[in-house]
Amino acid sequence: MSPKPFTLTAAIDYANADPHIGHAYEKILADVIARFQRLCGRGVFFMTGVDQHGQKVEQAAARLGMDTQGFVDSVAARFRTLWETLGVAYDCWAATTHPLHQQIVCKVLRQLFSAGDLYKSTYRGFYSVRQEQFLTDKDRDATGKFGPEWGEIIFLEEGNWYFRLSKYLPWLSKFIETHSEFVIPAFRRTEITHAIQHWKQDLCISRPRSRLSWGIELPFDQEFVTYVWFDALISYLSFTGYLSEDPVEEGRFRQRWPALHILGKDIMIPAHAVYWPTMVHAMGFSDQQIPQLLVHGWWNFDGTKVSKSTGNTVDPFILASRYGPAALRYYLMRDISTGRDANFSEERLILLCNTELANGLGNLLNRTLSMVNLYLGGSLHPGFYSHDTNTIREQNRRSTSEYFLRMQSFEIDRAIMAIMDIVSRSNAFIEASSPWELYRKPKQRAKLAEVLATLHESIRLAASLLAPILPKESAAMLNQLGIEAIDFSHPDPTLRTSLAVSPPQPVFPKFP
Ligand code: ME8
Ligand code: MG
Repeated sequence: MSPKPFTLTAAIDYANADPHIGHAYEKILADVIARFQRLCGRGVFFMTGVDQHGQKVEQAAARLGMDTQGFVDSVAARFRTLWETLGVAYDCWAATTHPLHQQIVCKVLRQLFSAGDLYKSTYRGFYSVRQEQFLTDKDRDATGKFGPEWGEIIFLEEGNWYFRLSKYLPWLSKFIETHSEFVIPAFRRTEITHAIQHWKQDLCISRPRSRLSWGIELPFDQEFVTYVWFDALISYLSFTGYLSEDPVEEGRFRQRWPALHILGKDIMIPAHAVYWPTMVHAMGFSDQQIPQLLVHGWWNFDGTKVSKSTGNTVDPFILASRYGPAALRYYLMRDISTGRDANFSEERLILLCNTELANGLGNLLNRTLSMVNLYLGGSLHPGFYSHDTNTIREQNRRSTSEYFLRMQSFEIDRAIMAIMDIVSRSNAFIEASSPWELYRKPKQRAKLAEVLATLHESIRLAASLLAPILPKESAAMLNQLGIEAIDFSHPDPTLRTSLAVSPPQPVFPKFP
């Protein structure tokens, strides 16, 4: 058997509107983590997709006068085009209207039904149309009202099917208490503990067909369709091979599972931290098979969440065409700390890309290649390293360890800073060693070659480490350096053979 792949999922986006930078951020984050795991030599299975059922989607299609399936297919195509543009390379596309997924949802429902975990009952109370959720007193704010985040609220009295979630709450409390790694960052754990302390109710898993027809029919009651969250969460299983009739795929599921789920803080409670673990537990998964959550914060704009419902979206298509996909990837990874919120600013995007990429890394590459071409005829040869160059090489090794440590704990911004340390150190090294002066003194030729080889090595290192974040630009830099990326399973970067560099070509544009 091949070793267990690193399985990660990014939330499946509602197919009710175009993607915004919040969606772009999450998928780029997942892509960077996936590419980093591959850089470490690990097999990866990365799944994302679209959440195509539910009232919001049905209403959006109706507003446009479109057939619902046609509408969700067109939105899915928009998302896929964006991922293609931004270089988000998932292995598996999960669209919940796919027949395979419908089949698995029905299998899971039948299984829970046979186990006695589902029952029918009548609900009387308030309902949020926007969140497609029944409201209880704990959803009221301090003044006793339901806040604006719930959107339109209606009073409902209707029969529905329920999952006996409350039966599994004692298990969940114990699980959260004993598995500190369940949620990253760790500070989110208190929120979960707090939420389940006051939790009593079961989970309504159906919607009457009379009110909503756009969903997966319950296999044991055709008057109802499956609640969109119950359906969406199961996508994590159906697209990774769970209960597959194909034995090869089923075997892969055993290796792939459990996954790391990447999601935003707005969908941690209740969906991912309460519904999902209890569902998976009720299906018979062991504690070791409960997936882990990586919960990121929000991109805000002028202090409020970038969101389809409020309309303050920032269009990633426009940004990618204005600045290029690399600038957008870089900014969205560089200007937020995983788990925290950040404020989106186009000025910051320009500033960070100009100072760190164009002036920092781009200039370093340009100066170094120009000097190798001008002073050494474009060639570098294996040589020896003296005290001066060993100092910078040692500092670069430390930045590399810092980078790996930060990437392993999903702190991409800090990992990028470690790369930028290598860059600024190298630019300072150019100033300090003045290769142009060494060139004027024939006795200093060996020193000159050593300095330029050291710079070449530093850029190779920075470009190799940058690969998960900016794969194309990393490859373009290495190509000009005339060398392949460092293999981090044997991370000695010392030059072993002679090589020829190319004339410098700009890799990072400078924005006015
Ligand atoms: O919640 N900043 O879909 P969705 C950062 N279909 N992340 C943001 C964001 C922002 N401003 N706005 C949204 C859903 N997101 C469900 C998920 S998973 C089984 C089902 C993130 O389109 C959000 O936190 O509303 C979520 O992780 C993802 O984008 C999709 O949001
Ligand atoms: Mg949302």
